[in-house]
Amino acid sequence: TYVVTESCIRCKYTDCVDVCPVDCFREGPNFLVIDPDECIDCTLCVAECPVEAIFAEDDVPDDQQHFIELNAELAKQWPAIVETKDAPADADEWAQVKDKLGELER
Ligand code: SF4
Ligand code: F3S
Repeated sequence: TYVVTESCIRCKYTDCVDVCPVDCFREGPNFLVIDPDECIDCTLCVAECPVEAIFAEDDVPDDQQHFIELNAELAKQWPAIVETKDAPADADEWAQVKDKLGELER
């Protein structure tokens, strides 16, 4: 499966959503996750993300490993998103910010 990691938080550009052939993105207030039960490993979403938030599960950086479980957990709680929408107005200001986990809204 593929995993959305920290750089998505408060950026949420949603470019990833349009290319997913199986609609496996789930939407929270300021972050998206991938439902690991639905992802077919097509890889298409990876190149779409302007902040390079998406990794194959095996390639998730060491300091982002907790996002594997977080995607699985939140995918069960959040609704599907199937179309790109406008990013938050201040998304670009958060694009280079690290350690954003504390900003995650559930
Ligand atoms: Fe969807 Fe493919 Fe990305 Fe999985 S790898 S989330 S199937 S676009
Ligand atoms: Fe997030 Fe990147 Fe998609 S910022 S919403 S993973 S395009």
